[in-house]
Amino acid sequence: MSDTPTYKNILVTKLDNPKGLKVGQIQLNRPDVLNALNIELMGELVSTLESFDKDTEVGCIIITGSAKAFAAGADIKEMATQSAIDMHIRDQFSVWDKIRKIKKPIIAATSGFVLGGGCELTMACDMIVAAESTKFGQPEIKLGIIPGAGGTQRLTRAIGKARAMEMILTGRMYTAREMFEAGLVTRLADDEVFLEEAQALAKEIASMPQMALQMAKDSILKSFDTTVEGGLEYERKAFYLLFASDDMKEGMSAFVEKRKPEWKHK
Ligand code: HXC
Repeated sequence: MSDTPTYKNILVTKLDNPKGLKVGQIQLNRPDVLNALNIELMGELVSTLESFDKDTEVGCIIITGSAKAFAAGADIKEMATQSAIDMHIRDQFSVWDKIRKIKKPIIAATSGFVLGGGCELTMACDMIVAAESTKFGQPEIKLGIIPGAGGTQRLTRAIGKARAMEMILTGRMYTAREMFEAGLVTRLADDEVFLEEAQALAKEIASMPQMALQMAKDSILKSFDTTVEGGLEYERKAFYLLFASDDMKEGMSAFVEKRKPEWKHK
């Protein structure tokens, strides 16, 4: 485990991985307000994601919170006095678009409250490992607003219209098990070990060749924005492109020679 720069609202670590590249871990750290996502925290989070994305030592990223809350949403106190024009000019949520551009896989490791923008942040990640104690919800309706960072879009695609409607229109909270069964959550874990499980998954993924990982993530995300035919063409081009990588040659040679591959991540 090695330390990287210190921020005010997040804790950043790189976890060693004997199997492959390191895992970049970001812990949301505003415990007094249940990790409410204010502008400063989001800036620190996105800049760290971008630096992990460029860091050739890092193969996979984890975002986690505290036992009581992954994040209880956008910071209501910061938004409460804003007008529509203030919101438009400040455009504080545009920073969220940068998460979509991160090429490396991101795992959200959750426990406690995952509400509003917190829930949307998990959905901007690629996988969710949830402790049994996790409570998911989109309670914006109770504040007179709606989800504003992808909730109506990503939740609907993840769990279907019928369930997304109920969740967003009632603002109710749902258990980790309910969300696992609905297809939002990748893995359910005991509270005591959810972070270790997320780290083990991240290390397994970080031991794979980076070029193939990034192309796979990119192609899967493409499926949300395109027709099946367009997506199949996109996938095929990415597949062919990987035949230009050193790791494709290494992976196939290693198989034929019955040895373990040594990835160059190129
Ligand atoms: C600012 C928050 C907060 C939030 C909690 N706190 N959530 N501050 N923004 N989203 C603060 C509380 O004000 C309180 O501070 C402290 O955290 C502890 O919270 P309590 O309410 O005392 O804890 P508890 O009784 O355990 O209740 C937990 C809770 C409740 C059920 C999660 O805090 C809650 O309902 N929070 C708001 C959830 C929400 O509506 N989220 C959606 C936000 S809108 P003080 O100083 O009072 O002790 C949103 C829009 C997304 O996310 C748009 C795109 C990003």
